[in-house]
Amino acid sequence: MTTPRLAREIAEFYSDDYDEQTRLTDSACGVLELVRTQELLRRHLPPAPASVLDVGGGPGVHARWLAADGYRVHLVDPVERHVAQAREASAAYTVEVGDARALSAADASYDVVLFLGPLYHLPEPAERERALAQALRVVRPGGLVVAAGIQRFAPVFDNTAHARLHLDGIDERMPRILTTGSNAGKLFTSAYFHRTEELADELRAAGLAEVRVYGVEGPGDALLKAAELTAGLRISPDSDLFRSALAAARLAEPHPELTVASSHLLAFGRRPAQATAA
Ligand SMILES: C[S@@+](CC[C@H](N)C(=O)[O-])C[C@H]1O[C@@H](n2cnc3c(N)ncnc32)[C@H](O)[C@@H]1O
Repeated sequence: MTTPRLAREIAEFYSDDYDEQTRLTDSACGVLELVRTQELLRRHLPPAPASVLDVGGGPGVHARWLAADGYRVHLVDPVERHVAQAREASAAYTVEVGDARALSAADASYDVVLFLGPLYHLPEPAERERALAQALRVVRPGGLVVAAGIQRFAPVFDNTAHARLHLDGIDERMPRILTTGSNAGKLFTSAYFHRTEELADELRAAGLAEVRVYGVEGPGDALLKAAELTAGLRISPDSDLFRSALAAARLAEPHPELTVASSHLLAFGRRPAQATAA
């Protein structure tokens, strides 16, 4: 299988412009994403020592706590810098340079496949389809696939919280992102923003069953960002504002309408026990 090439702007973004290593630990909104991702994963994952393929695992933030929980984790990421950071951070999991669209893992070889990144960096539907087909191929029948999406309307909340939605360029680009989901500009890097049902439909179309999509950060997400990033307040995970935001995320969970308040969506699906890979 030929290895697909990672878009140059994504490789440059993560290699030169942005250090992903501390994204989930050095801000309250990052910690909120981490805590909520952990609690959703811990609720759905089979018991340790199940095997987990962490595709797009970046510098290994999730691989570390999953390994500490007793899971057998293998991390795959196309950015060499991420793989080096993940390798340096811990020897409790294995790592490999690779792409979600051409996984080296054998058929049906993992209990769980995580895609916490690849889908929102593949703007073309056919490329996301190709990646999800790989997830379905390498997860065992009855196994779990978990895929993150960036929520379609997150850029409105996010850029308002950063107090820059009205600025030239951003205001012009926004209507196209909200309508098409595609971001070709410099706000982040090449990305696709999913509607909640669209992400569920993509998992179902790949052949996954029992699909459920959660909002990760909940309705307090943008408020936390505005307080922290624009007002410059230091918000610790012990603060009332952080605890309130976490409570709001949990409260919102049973209400699909509120997924639009989260920056990230987390979709869970199961490979049917008797099905063949898509
Ligand atoms: C925002 S980071 C998320 C890292 C980590 N999984 C997390 O949830 O914090 C997105 C990750 O997706 C990876 N990625 C981008 N395109 C990918 C692809 N085609 N296949 C696999 N991973 C990809 C990037 O290198 C990066 O590590």
